[in-house]
Amino acid sequence: MTSVDARDIAEDLEDVLFTSDQIAERIAQVAAQIDQDYEGREILLVGVLNGAVMVMSDLQRAMRSHVQMDWMAVSSYGAGTQSSGVVRILKDLSQDLKGRHVIVVEDIIDTGLTLSYLMNYLASRGPASLEIMTMFRKPEAARIEVPVKYVGFDIPNSFVVGYGLDYADRYRNLRDVATLKPSIYS
Ligand code: IMP
Repeated sequence: MTSVDARDIAEDLEDVLFTSDQIAERIAQVAAQIDQDYEGREILLVGVLNGAVMVMSDLQRAMRSHVQMDWMAVSSYGAGTQSSGVVRILKDLSQDLKGRHVIVVEDIIDTGLTLSYLMNYLASRGPASLEIMTMFRKPEAARIEVPVKYVGFDIPNSFVVGYGLDYADRYRNLRDVATLKPSIYS
């Protein structure tokens, strides 16, 4: 397969936390759980660009329920590795949320500031239900409590890349998820 795995950029990476196989296996489990929880209901998956592109695409294909999808883009991080807490909506939803069963699909929850803002914003649009699925979460970094129904993996409080997660817009296409060597970002 002609895609990037951790061996190709080993000099930039510290530790591989999850391989693409482990990620796929966990996605399948979460998808099955969502199918069970939402049996008989249609779901609107709202992805947060750009990081959630990979998880959105894999999660959706692992689900049996009828799903629609929509996207939002918000600014949280620039080229650095710290959340600013300032959230700006760069792209809004195209669909009406009224009466819909919405699951927000996130790549990672770090401080929780971005998602907390987003959840208030989405809740004000009258969905029938509103939940969160995130592929990764850093419990030690939480600065605000966000109720997350579906979590792929809890991870330590270090900066990770791959599977949609970037550093300065690079490494999103890495199939595995790994910590970056501090020398890359310091
Ligand atoms: P929060 O507001 O601190 O929870 O940050 C959420 C956003 O920051 C995520 O959607 C990511 O885009 C980005 N982010 C947080 N931690 C990481 C990381 O370890 N690697 C890459 N991006 C991250």
